[in-house]
Amino acid sequence: MNFKELASEYKTPLYVYDLDYMSEQYQELKSAFKGRKSILAYAVKANSNLSVVKHFADLGSGADCVSIGEVRRAFLAGIPAYKIIFSGVGKCDDEIREAIEKDILYINVESEAELFRVESIAKELNRTSRISIRVNPNIDPQTHPYISTGLHDNKFGVDIGTAKRMYIFAKNSEALEPVGVHFHIGSQLTHLEPIYEAAVIVADMVRSLEAIDIELKFFDIGGGLGITYDDEVTIKPYDYAQAILGTLKGLDLTVICEPGRFLTANAGYFLTKVLYEKQNGTKKFVVVDGAMNDLLRPSLYNAYHKIEAITDSTSEVRKVDIVGPVCESGDFFAKDYSLPELNHNDLLVVHSAGAYGFGMGSNYNTRGRSAEVAVQDGKARLIRKRENFEDLIALEKEFLV
Ligand code: LLP
Repeated sequence: MNFKELASEYKTPLYVYDLDYMSEQYQELKSAFKGRKSILAYAVKANSNLSVVKHFADLGSGADCVSIGEVRRAFLAGIPAYKIIFSGVGKCDDEIREAIEKDILYINVESEAELFRVESIAKELNRTSRISIRVNPNIDPQTHPYISTGLHDNKFGVDIGTAKRMYIFAKNSEALEPVGVHFHIGSQLTHLEPIYEAAVIVADMVRSLEAIDIELKFFDIGGGLGITYDDEVTIKPYDYAQAILGTLKGLDLTVICEPGRFLTANAGYFLTKVLYEKQNGTKKFVVVDGAMNDLLRPSLYNAYHKIEAITDSTSEVRKVDIVGPVCESGDFFAKDYSLPELNHNDLLVVHSAGAYGFGMGSNYNTRGRSAEVAVQDGKARLIRKRENFEDLIALEKEFLV
């Protein structure tokens, strides 16, 4: 990938996505589940650019969505209704209504109270709503606490006892059709054991439901497969699939997997230019034109992203903090990072930025969000324009008195 050329053509800060890499990741994971019916439902939140979602639609992917906005994106990108799932702990009535009207594969219900809402909205519409229930298996996924979701301390899903009660309620309701079960214990998972343990618990629950005549069709294992940002040893898709499939013996279920990061993170690069170098006492800083409003992960999770300098500099490396223009001390991409002396307009390439990068961006400090570019078969194309000042004030301007 010629980052220098891309930066000079599209300017910085800039997101660049390698769609061919995304295809390879998709195919590797999909083929790991061969031998079973399976759907990969791309977790749209990881990177919701319409052209990225369409790329997955073209590969045959479904979509895992967490807002009606994401459901609409999935439709626009060409993902068929029967491969769209709608999850999330706080769905509003209007969102539930639209999901039922759009006849998506199922609504993934995360509480008893929500199940009652879905039932009453389905009744109002004179429809039957397909549902799955998100089970919280109370397993520690051994990841960053902010992205752990499968413990009772986390807000997600319901415990097994509640889930069973909900399935019985749904089975007895004319407005509900229970078709699936779902669990997702966390993100950036690098240990297989907790996933396996969760799958065992959930598969046992499915068996106990069969015993009372509640037959499900979908076993939704969520997303969560970790990637290498630094030197993490990751779970191999084949081992992952084997572990899951091993828990499903005797059950006729389609496996649904909701990968986000695995498909897009290492396909993405964030390009930013060096503005200045400065020194406060002994502390050295490289100030760049990108900021925490473009890529929040380092600030929010202290996440590591590899950073590559494209420069003619031949100096020795020294330890620097790489920081942006936003008025927050937390506005950094890396701390004590080894880089050579850099010049104005040298390029820094922040790696592994294709998941939870652009999507977690904001307009803080009245900064327009970066442009996004896709590269496929060696050709680059713009897939989102850079936001300008007019875009940022468009919804406020008319109220200026
Ligand atoms: N399915 C459900 C129900 C989820 O909640 C998530 C992610 C996924 C699938 C996709 O997970 P993945 O395969 O990408 O791990 N902003 C954080 C990650 C938050 C993940 C939230 N849920 C980060 O930057 O690390």
